[in-house]
This record gives sequence, C-alpha cells and structure tokens, in this order.
Amino acid sequence: MKTKVAIIGAGPSGLLLGQLLTKAGIDNIILERQTPEYVLGRIRAGVLEQGMVDMLREAGVSLRMENEGLIHEGVELIYNGRRERIDLKQLSGGKTVMVYGQTEVTRDLMDARSQSGALTVYSASHVQLHELKGEKPFITFEQEGKHLRLDCDYIAGCDGFHGVSRQSIPSDILTHYERIYPFGWLGLLSDTPPVSDELIYAQHERGFVLCSQRSHTRSRYYLQVPLSDKVEDWSDDRFWQELKTRLPADVASRLATGPSIEKSIAPLRSYVVEPMQYGNLFLVGDAAHIVPPTGAKGLNLAASDVSYLFRILVKVYREGRTDLLPKYSELALRRIWKAERFSWFMTKLLHTFPDADNFDQRMQQSDFDYYTGSLAGRQTIAENYVGLPFESI
Ligand code: APR
Ligand code: PHB
Repeated sequence: MKTKVAIIGAGPSGLLLGQLLTKAGIDNIILERQTPEYVLGRIRAGVLEQGMVDMLREAGVSLRMENEGLIHEGVELIYNGRRERIDLKQLSGGKTVMVYGQTEVTRDLMDARSQSGALTVYSASHVQLHELKGEKPFITFEQEGKHLRLDCDYIAGCDGFHGVSRQSIPSDILTHYERIYPFGWLGLLSDTPPVSDELIYAQHERGFVLCSQRSHTRSRYYLQVPLSDKVEDWSDDRFWQELKTRLPADVASRLATGPSIEKSIAPLRSYVVEPMQYGNLFLVGDAAHIVPPTGAKGLNLAASDVSYLFRILVKVYREGRTDLLPKYSELALRRIWKAERFSWFMTKLLHTFPDADNFDQRMQQSDFDYYTGSLAGRQTIAENYVGLPFESI
C-alpha cells in the first residue's frame, strides 16, 4: 500500500486530520488498532472551543453539531459556596464555546470518512514505524493474520498517550514534563436534564465537582475522588448523595437524579513531550500531551495540533514549502504550554489537595477571590476557557 500521509490512530486527532487532508485532495490512510465500535464507546469530554468548531465546519462535518450542539456564553465557578458567573462572551470579545460530546464529533468524522471513500484500516495490530529519518518512511502492521506494508511521505502519530508513535522516537532526544495529581475524577453519565443551563465548576472541602451536560436531556457529572477508589465503591445512590452534599443547597435541590448510563474513574495528569517531531514523524494530540480535564482543553489541543500540521502539509504539497516542516513542534508547543498552564491553574484553584496546609488553603481562596473579583482576572479565565488564538503560518 502507498499513500502521502499515513495516520496512526482513528481518535479525534487522526480522523480530523484525515478529513481535512482528504478535502484538500491529499491522500491519506488511517491505521487504527481497535474496531470502530470500540472507538465510539469511549466517553470523553464535551466542550469545543470556537477554533475547533470552525475547523469542523472547514472539514465539512458540522451539520449535526450545528443542530444538536449547545452554545454556551458563560460558566459558573463556585468556591466554598460562593458563586461567580464568568460571562465568556462579554469578557472575550464575543466568543463562546459549543457543548457537543467528543463521541459525537468522532461519529460525525467517521461517517464523513466512510462517505469520502478514504481508507481506514481498523483492527491493525503490531504497527511499527520504519525509516523515520530517511526519504522513504514506511509502516508495517498486521491485519487478520496478514503482514502488510504502507509506504508514505509523512507519518502523523495520532495514536494517543499509549500509542506506538512517541515510543518510536529515540528516547535520548525526548524530554518529558509531567505532573501527576493526587486524585481522580469519577464521571457519571445519565439521561436526566442538566441541573443548570451552564457548566458549574465547584470547589468544596470534600472535593471538586463538575456539572456538565451533553444535551437538554443528558447530563455528565464528575466528583473528585481519591486515586484508591474503585468504580464499584460508588453506587449511583452514593454518587448522587455526594454530589448534592458538595453543591450549594439551592442547586442540589434542583438536581434530577436517575440511573447511570456510564460511570468511570480517570486519573489527572499534566504531560508534555518535546520535541513533537522526529524526521518525517509528527506527534499530534494525546500522543504528545495530556492535560487534566479541568478546563476541557484535551480535545481542543488535539484540534490545534491538527490545524498546524494540516496547514503545513497543504503548503508542502501545494507550494513545495518543506522548509515549514521543522517548525511544527515549536508552533504547536507554544499553544500547548499555555493550555497546560490553564488546566493546571484551574485544577489547583478548584480541587482539595490532600496535603494542603492552612497557608495553601488561604492562597487558593485568595486566588479565587482575586481572579473572580478583578476584571483582568475574569478576562484571563474567559480568554483561556474559550481558547487562545491559533498562530498564522
Ligand atoms: N496502532 C494503531 N492505533 C493505535 C495504537 C497503535 N499502536 N495505539 C493507539 N491507537 C489508537 C487508539 O485505539 C485510539 O483510537 O489511537 C487512537 C488515539 O485516540 P485518542 O486517545 O482519542 O487521542 P486523540 O485522537 O489525540 O484525541 C485527543 O482529546 O479529550 C481528549 O484525551 C482526550 O481522546 C482525547 C483527546
Ligand atoms: C465533560 O462534559 O465531560 C466535561 C466538560 C468540561 C470539562 C471536562 C469535562 O472541563
């Protein structure tokens, strides 16, 4: 097999890059380890920055999102019962976010890809990358017991945190930056109307909570839990009780409860690898960086990497601008580090840290008071939440 751009991974990064390339007439093939059903079964975040919404429009996959997605003009932050609305639209000069689940984005991208006729090889195992520094990189893999080879010009490593792409770069040229947080998020999805029209991020001495949503009839809630907790420890009843305890009384009294559709625990981690490229291999999305979910930046960062790599590849194929290729990592990382900073800041601001002393607690409270009490502080939160701009290339 032969293509121009070989994409490893059919998560949102790989599918979005594939769709944009196909629309631009640049051949690409996606290799994915799992089945499409498995990929669609993963429940992830659901807040899209305007930049990502614009990219989905450009990729021609925005129809369902425009009909079913919910535009949010604000979010609510709560600290120790004190409620502060951040007016995203007013504070950011008119920008908003779109509430539309990552699972739905993935489904729309998969549908568009099958309509376009571009090839995705699912259940591809033993993917290995070769000759990354040479003129003619290639990939070997297995599917249904057959040994196959894919020749290409460039490889986009869109295979997530546990993928093969980052591991194919010699370890001595990589620097890893990491912070592991001493708690996880227990998420619950239910067919109940959301407790509030807008998302609520709330600090409480028993731990952080997030009230999010997927639609007017489907809610997503999260509780900060110790890393030692197991999903089995949390019956639906216990979850709802704890959520009510951590919310202000008038919000708790409006909470509609019901059976969970999905419940899972995710650890919180900040991680970046530098550089994000090696020869003809370019890392995209979770393959190169992870953010804690406070601030909903994971999916949006994947989209900004795709935007940079796509725009560079278009110039390479249309104008022969191969000089732009070495700039990918530097360009992408500038925006990534800012989103890493914001996610880390929001995590520190709103969670209960097990080993925080009384000074740490006062600092956290002062951070909240300062940021929400000053116009500059509110603008800082708003401009980061709606998404910082993409650089031109
Ligand atoms: N070979 C082929 N495919 C692989 C391999 C491999 N060795 N390893 C992983 N994959 C596939 C995974 O099965 C998965 O479908 O790569 C895909 C990676 O998808 P994601 O983990 O979703 O990563 P990405 O597309 O970068 O999405 C960014 O945004 O909200 C965040 O973390 C969240 O998934 C999210 C991300
Ligand atoms: C979600 O809806 O799953 C969600 C929303 C906002 C976040 C994280 C997750 O910050």
